[in-house]
Amino acid sequence: MRMPAIRIDLEKLRHNLDVLKAHFDAHDVHMSVVTKCFCADPTIVSMLERIEGIGLADSRISNLERITGKHERMLLRLPQQSQIDSVILTSDVSLNSEIEIIRSIDSRAGILKKKHRIILMFDLGDLREGIYYENLDLDEIREIEHMENVHLDGIGTNLTCYGGLIPTQEVYQRLKGLKEKIEVAIGRHLSVISGGNSSSVHLLMKGELPAFVNHLRIGEALLLGRETAYGKPLENMHDDVFTLEAEIIECKRKPSKPKGETGMDAFGNKTEFSDRGMMNRAILAVGRQDVSHVDLMCEKDFEIIGSSSDHLIVNVKDAKIGIGDTIRFKLTYGGILSLMTSPYVEKIYV
Ligand SMILES: Cc1ncc(COP(=O)(O)O)c(C=O)c1O
Repeated sequence: MRMPAIRIDLEKLRHNLDVLKAHFDAHDVHMSVVTKCFCADPTIVSMLERIEGIGLADSRISNLERITGKHERMLLRLPQQSQIDSVILTSDVSLNSEIEIIRSIDSRAGILKKKHRIILMFDLGDLREGIYYENLDLDEIREIEHMENVHLDGIGTNLTCYGGLIPTQEVYQRLKGLKEKIEVAIGRHLSVISGGNSSSVHLLMKGELPAFVNHLRIGEALLLGRETAYGKPLENMHDDVFTLEAEIIECKRKPSKPKGETGMDAFGNKTEFSDRGMMNRAILAVGRQDVSHVDLMCEKDFEIIGSSSDHLIVNVKDAKIGIGDTIRFKLTYGGILSLMTSPYVEKIYV
């Protein structure tokens, strides 16, 4: 094994998916599995492609290009004007909020002899993407409805992502109001109401997700077995599908506080240390170029002290551990994302 390595337990991932999907099926909600955190890794994607009744969603076109099976591919990030053809060719459906972009999709899709489906995004107050919910323009909706090559599948929203807005019944009322006005304007039902991400999973599991919401886009709940409105673990799900293993390259007893005048660390931050006496400090061959130490949780009762670009420093206390040994870490969502993106980290499937 080449270190550092991220271990991906496909059985645990499958288990998490089965548990989640049973809840989704029980409430008639469709799930798009978000593949961006693991860069649409081909081994994981091929496992997902064997599972019926889910869609796959990613924010990057280059990731969507790697998804070649028959599952629906959804582009999560709003399309770039400079990439319209790729959007049409790599995704079946995309999330949109700008009429100018939708016009371009319609015209380019005509030239490419394709049809493209869209979900119109509304910002219910989280203040990231979407038409602000108070600014619905029904003329724009009618214009989209009359486009030849674009089909308005439905509307969607993203919550608890930038502003931390939690999905509540009150927030969902805003989406329901939009759905009703749009349906009257176009004289038909919208087939997809995409009500958010892992921050809505706790409502779904309690049977409190409003019935008009029939689709969610799910990343973190699946990978880490937790909902993201309050960060609570989900029952009977694994939080260690992805773990990091890194090797100790130095292990020495040293003071906990630098001796002498201190200035900035390698990242330009002013350093501050409290004097906790001598400690057994292990240096591991992984660093911020791969992952930030704040995204790691030691599996053993060790203490992560800090990191520089190539080194991670861990207080190994009185453990009988030394150079050549490895330490394993659980990961945050951000940790998985950066480790899966780092070319210096081996990906191992167990
Ligand atoms: C538009 C959109 N939908 C859904 C998700 C998935 O969010 P989560 O990982 O909280 O389920 C993301 C982020 O990855 C996103 O950007």
